[in-house]
Amino acid sequence: MTGAQLCIRPVGADDTDYVINLVTEHFGSTQVVSRGRLHDCETLKGFLAMAGTRRVGLVQIAIRDGELEVVTLVSELDGAGVGRGLLERVVAEARHLGGLSRCWLSTTNNNHNAINFYRHIGWVQCATHLGAVDEARKLKPEIPLTDDRGIEIRDELEFEWKL
Ligand SMILES: CC(C)(COP(=O)(O)OP(=O)(O)OC[C@H]1O[C@@H](n2cnc3c(N)ncnc32)[C@H](O)[C@@H]1OP(=O)(O)O)[C@@H](O)C(=O)NCCC(=O)NCCS
Repeated sequence: MTGAQLCIRPVGADDTDYVINLVTEHFGSTQVVSRGRLHDCETLKGFLAMAGTRRVGLVQIAIRDGELEVVTLVSELDGAGVGRGLLERVVAEARHLGGLSRCWLSTTNNNHNAINFYRHIGWVQCATHLGAVDEARKLKPEIPLTDDRGIEIRDELEFEWKL
C-alpha cells in the first residue's frame, strides 16, 4: 500500500520501458492474444496509474467494430483501487469517444483472481469461449498448457461493461 494519492494518466513516450517490462512479466511477451487476435502491446493506447511519481498499474485498449477492448490490465498495488480506477478510466474514455456499444475483455479460465475481481466490480460475464486458448496458441505458441498451480489454461471468459 501507499499513502500517495492515485491518479490515472495516458501512457506517454517516456513510459515505454515500464510498459514493455510489465506486460512481458505478466503476459510472457508484448504480444497478447485475445479472441483470436494478436495485439502488439508496444503500440497500444493505454493509461497508467500513478501513486505520486511511482507507476503502479497499466491498462491498454484497442478499439474495433464499435467496441473498446481492454487488452491488458495490471495492478502493482493489491487492493488499493488501482485495477478499478484503471477500468473506470477506460469506461470514461469510451463514453468520451462516443459511438461505442460496450467495453469488453477476455481472461483465461485459470485466472481466478481476475475473474473474481471483474465480478466484484460489476463487469458481466457475457460469454465463455471453450477451447479458445488452443486457437490462441496458433498465434502465440509460448502460451503454456498449464499455469504455475497446474491448472489447465484452456478457455477464454469474456466480460463486458455496456455503455
Ligand atoms: C486483477 C487485478 C487487476 C486487480 O487489481 P487491484 O488493484 O488489486 O484491484 P482494486 O484494488 O482496484 O480492487 C477493487 C475492488 O475489487 C476487490 N478485489 C480485488 N481483487 C479481488 C479478487 N480477486 N476477488 C474479489 N474482489 C477483489 C477489492 O477488494 C476492491 O473491493 P472494494 O472496492 O469493494 O473494496 C490485479 O490483481 C492484477 O493486476 N492481477 C495480475 C494481472 C492480471 O491477471 N490481470 C488481468 C488479466 S486479464
